[in-house]
Amino acid sequence: MELMGSTALVTGGAVRLGRAIALGLARAGADVAISYSSSAGPADETVSEILALGRRAVAFRADFGGDFRAEDLVLQTEEALGPLSVLVNSAAIFEHGNWDDTTEENWERHFSINLKAPFFLSQAFGRRVKGQFASGLSGRRGHVVNIADWRAVRPGTDHVAYTLAKAGLVAMTKSLALALAPEIQVNAVAPGIILPPPGADDAFIERKAAQIPARRVGSPEEVVKAVLYLLDSDFVTGDLVYVTGGEHL
Ligand SMILES: NC(=O)c1ccc[n+]([C@@H]2O[C@H](COP(=O)([O-])OP(=O)(O)OC[C@H]3O[C@@H](n4cnc5c(N)ncnc54)[C@H](OP(=O)(O)O)[C@@H]3O)[C@@H](O)[C@H]2O)c1
Repeated sequence: MELMGSTALVTGGAVRLGRAIALGLARAGADVAISYSSSAGPADETVSEILALGRRAVAFRADFGGDFRAEDLVLQTEEALGPLSVLVNSAAIFEHGNWDDTTEENWERHFSINLKAPFFLSQAFGRRVKGQFASGLSGRRGHVVNIADWRAVRPGTDHVAYTLAKAGLVAMTKSLALALAPEIQVNAVAPGIILPPPGADDAFIERKAAQIPARRVGSPEEVVKAVLYLLDSDFVTGDLVYVTGGEHL
């Protein structure tokens, strides 16, 4: 798909990986809307950086754990930037929880933010793109890229609600790839350790790197490349691209 002149929505696009993806799409020629929850200042900075690249940009606040309507976010984006053709579901939380201390609140927050929001955003996006395609309003095809995690397909015993919600995201990727074809491709990226959790020290990173076949942690640009590869392809759908340095093996 030609990204030049397209419009993308990146959830969680104000900070860290989501921000790198938003900037990567802008560098490839897309106008970009980002959603943020608490990072209002960083969202403004990301918007300014995209504008400085010569693309249009806008940020919308949306709390996926609260009173959130996916359709509103998609419509707001289209009102600001025109018909959407790319949706990247990157926003997520990653909170502790083993089998015996996971609470219902922890479970519900993970499933709301990490799975329910991506599903209903994809539904709203799918309706818009398919509707515009059928009515001839837009000849653009659509792409959804879900940012998953290798743990989704090789679950351990930690971060239970996070892992199960991400497993749902991988299943959703395959289901929607079938449901939304042929106009829309749906894929996922499964990163390994790219940006360590805030507060992680050098010793944590060295310990992690030693456990990874590539003997290092990844970089946001490696995830961006995977996203751009998926968006470039007109034939890959329902796929999961690992960006792990081999950790998932
Ligand atoms: N970092 C890694 O190495 C790594 C590894 C594997 C998978 N991943 C996946 O890659 C994606 C990005 O990871 P990251 O480390 O950059 O994430 P992060 O630093 O934890 O950032 C989380 C993002 O989700 C948004 N978010 C959190 N709560 C939200 C809510 N209630 N409503 C709406 N948005 C909310 C945040 O927005 P605000 O800041 O505006 O609140 C932020 O943009 C996630 O899906 C993560 O699971 C990351």
